[in-house]
Amino acid sequence: MEKPIILTGDRPTGPLHLGHYAGSLLNRIEFQDSHCQYILVADMQALTDNSANPNKVTENVLEVVKDYLAVGIDPKKTKIVLQSQVPDIALLSMIFSNLVSVARVERNPTVKQEVRQKGFNHEVPMGFFSYPVSQAADIAAFRATVVPVGEDQKPMVELTNEIVHRFNTTYGSDVFCKADAIIPKYGRLPGVDGKAKMSKSLGNGIQLNASADEISKAVKKMYTDPNHLKVEDPGTVEGNVVFSYLSAFDPNQSEVEQLKEHYRRGGLSDSKIKKRLNEVLQELLEPIRERRCQLDQDISYVRQVIQEGTEEGLDAVSRTMKDVRSAIGINYWM
Ligand code: TRP
Repeated sequence: MEKPIILTGDRPTGPLHLGHYAGSLLNRIEFQDSHCQYILVADMQALTDNSANPNKVTENVLEVVKDYLAVGIDPKKTKIVLQSQVPDIALLSMIFSNLVSVARVERNPTVKQEVRQKGFNHEVPMGFFSYPVSQAADIAAFRATVVPVGEDQKPMVELTNEIVHRFNTTYGSDVFCKADAIIPKYGRLPGVDGKAKMSKSLGNGIQLNASADEISKAVKKMYTDPNHLKVEDPGTVEGNVVFSYLSAFDPNQSEVEQLKEHYRRGGLSDSKIKKRLNEVLQELLEPIRERRCQLDQDISYVRQVIQEGTEEGLDAVSRTMKDVRSAIGINYWM
């Protein structure tokens, strides 16, 4: 029995944070044994809205790989692939763009929202507008059947399935099969300020390579329950970031449940729960930070990991493309 193929990816535009850890990295660590897993460092996709700032992308490629390795992604099990070095993905993306209408791509809610957030107005780069099509090519090129992504990326997987279905029916082939989006069970972690999403641009995250001091500071200013003014007051746990993080990371969940009860009842101070969270996060992040430091001393190893992963990615994708070319008939002298 062959293992099901997973493709996931990140845009390398900055170091990864705790939100990535809870939302995707933990899942990836879990899937390494049961699946054939590829992680795509999507530098080409990152360039779609950073074309004038290529350094922001290129300088973060190895940083992201270091984060993967530091949290326990094992390059013997998971293949880390650098997108720009697999040009066949771009070719497939071009083929796919003939199989979908502009109107269909325009309906993508995630892209609509991003266009607004980034303030492109009427100057949306073509590549950015159509990145869902190239993401479909990412997924299909690896023949992934499982795509673990955040909620906001679900429309990309839906589009992928529409495009590959269109490919199969148009070219009378069965080159591609359906992919399922799976939403990580740990869910999305709020920012330290209580905003729905931890993000580097909002400055409300805790990076995986944060120093002990940075962690303490972030915990100190963490959003709790604004109406919990006196220790004796009953407090609210829902939307209280300290409890969200304790639920995500505290190894002793039955104690977390007790703390929640106590907090709701009144008599448990914010400083006590913050103290506990600080301990939990220090313990979680210290070994990650240490491994990252070791990797900093051995950049040639990090480079080797992504080079070897990319070689394997090239192999897998070229197998797919052989079938794609013959399905369309552009395999002239092959
Ligand atoms: N769009 C994804 C993100 O911003 C990154 C990504 C690129 C991706 N290609 C992918 C995710 C393929 C899953 C599958 O996080």
